[in-house]
Amino acid sequence: MTARTVDRPSGASRTGTTEPGDRPAERPGPEAPPPQLRSRHLLGIAGLTADEITLILDTAVAMKEIGGRAIKKVPTLRGRTVVNLFFEPSTRTRTSFEIAEKRLSADTLSIATATSSVTKGETLVDTVRNLEAMSPDMIVLRHSSSGAPELLSRICRSSVINAGDGMHEHPTQALLDAFTIREHKGRLSGLKVAIVGDLLHSRVLRSNVQLLKTMGAEVWACGPATLIPAGIERLGARPTTSVDEAVEGADVVMLLRIQHERMHAHFIPSVREYFALFGMTPERLRRASSEVIVMHPGPMNRGVEIDSEVADGPYSVILEQVSNGVAVRMAVLYLLAGREEGTLE
Ligand code: CP
Repeated sequence: MTARTVDRPSGASRTGTTEPGDRPAERPGPEAPPPQLRSRHLLGIAGLTADEITLILDTAVAMKEIGGRAIKKVPTLRGRTVVNLFFEPSTRTRTSFEIAEKRLSADTLSIATATSSVTKGETLVDTVRNLEAMSPDMIVLRHSSSGAPELLSRICRSSVINAGDGMHEHPTQALLDAFTIREHKGRLSGLKVAIVGDLLHSRVLRSNVQLLKTMGAEVWACGPATLIPAGIERLGARPTTSVDEAVEGADVVMLLRIQHERMHAHFIPSVREYFALFGMTPERLRRASSEVIVMHPGPMNRGVEIDSEVADGPYSVILEQVSNGVAVRMAVLYLLAGREEGTLE
């Protein structure tokens, strides 16, 4: 394969893998290879090391600066083609990937299943084999089946980025959540994070618990007993059905939506009762740290998992999460492109 280079945006991270006790004089010199992700795919948070997560978050800091410029575009991915393949609805993830790709000057195309030959019965594998015949460099995939990105990663030449698969993982959401927390708190380690809502059907929960535990945070997972997944403790979260216990002293309160479309049984008696017992109101939030931040990956159900006074209140960073999604997805695209070519300059 002809080696194509990926221009490094000014300020992009060279941090990542130094150990405590390393002397400053031994910082990487000009010949040192830039830190890289070990895989050419991003399939989930599972398998990422703390150093890799830090590398993505640090790189996103430089990417956010590009977004703040008058001309928000760099030639970093010029000549690369990225296909956004969304088999499920999306507002935030799809648009922020598209904006991220455009800011890095990639050629992009977005395919929604409603307008593709999937409606005529074509399988995911055949769809992707046909797309690969047109030589894309990366495929961003959202799919309702857990494991669909993993399947594609085994057959694709392109890098595969998981944009949410079933109830499994949503890695770029967890990364942008971590980026937003770090911006406000300066760290992830030692924070108490309360995640409240429909835990059972949430890929955001699974990615966030794994990321936050890897980075040293304490994670509480709160919801009705019927919506707490078996084995959540094995990922490192502390399960509870008490909102008060979860929120007490929390640095971060993250609400998750009730996912009616994935519920094939009656998990809650009614939306009204759910809000009465678990909805995040200003009264409930008073138990949290006085510096708490309130997060939600979206889409929000106001009056179900979150009161509008909280969603639009002074502690809410929900729209910041959306803004940060662009920088974090730019960082992922940039790092995977450099990983593929073995060079970042
Ligand atoms: N947070 C999230 O994945 O939102 P979308 O479904 O709108 O992409």
